Amino acid sequence: MLRFALLARTAAEIKRDVAAAQTRDPAARGVGSPEILATWPGVHALLAHRVAHALHGVGVPILPRAIAAVARALTGIEIHPAAIIGDGFFIDHGMGVVIGETAQIGSDVTLYQGVTLGGTGFATGKRHPTVEDNVTIGSGAKLLGPITVGHGSKVGANSVVIHDVPPNSTVVGNPGHPVRVEGRRPEGPDVDWVHLPDPIADAIKALAARIATLERAAGTTGNGAGPELGSEYDLGEAGLGPGRAVGPSPAGG
Ligand SMILES: CC(C)(COP(=O)(O)OP(=O)(O)OC[C@H]1O[C@@H](n2cnc3c(N)ncnc32)[C@H](O)[C@@H]1OP(=O)(O)O)[C@@H](O)C(=O)NCCC(=O)NCCS
Repeated sequence: MLRFALLARTAAEIKRDVAAAQTRDPAARGVGSPEILATWPGVHALLAHRVAHALHGVGVPILPRAIAAVARALTGIEIHPAAIIGDGFFIDHGMGVVIGETAQIGSDVTLYQGVTLGGTGFATGKRHPTVEDNVTIGSGAKLLGPITVGHGSKVGANSVVIHDVPPNSTVVGNPGHPVRVEGRRPEGPDVDWVHLPDPIADAIKALAARIATLERAAGTTGNGAGPELGSEYDLGEAGLGPGRAVGPSPAGG
């Protein structure tokens, strides 16, 4: 009876894992379950993990790690047997995915290739991320440390996330920062990650303006001692100002 219940549960899990591939991978639309079971590496890795995790849970030695190692060799996806993974998990493409020992993943989570759910160093205990339900993590994203990614959130491709992610948010970049929370752009003084102040460029611009003023006052501009206005030394061309006129380099001898 117990064996029948276990078989029924395993069959239901496999069905849901295959359905996850069919609904979340556009390339799997119209592809039958046997073909997905035979050829989708993310599904292979997950099925192997379900077996390894069950064996690990009842204290079987060596075998869980051996299963994980074979799955990794075949799929390029490394999942520690102790990692806790919910229903409807889908790894698209898969190569280069690493899921650490204390990672916890909720239901209906999607990962693309190259995602790391890793630790930040040599800490022990809970050291890998917790990913809540319905989260999507883009290719190449690195989530490091015992952070929590709130339900319904998206992590952009190639982001590096080291802080908690609020639910229903979109986080991108390195360091990962929210660009949408509950569908709205976050507001406040610290949210413009694109136009960060550059004090060095500002100082150079101020110096250049002052030198230009002094040159005009002294009538030295264009006296043959250096490049003229609008030459290749123009700061505007160097990306440091809007075409402001300058004379010879103030730093040069
Ligand atoms: C983050 C992502 C999920 C889009 O989420 P979204 O909520 O629809 O967000 P939007 O497309 O509205 O983008 C929000 C902002 O983040 C920026 N952005 C989106 N993805 C980004 C990324 N990976 N890196 C940096 N910035 C990104 C957008 O340019 C936009 O900027 P803006 O606010 O200045 O306009 C998506 O861009 C992504 O990275 N998906 C992963 C897909 C993937 O890995 N595919 C692999 C298939 S093989």
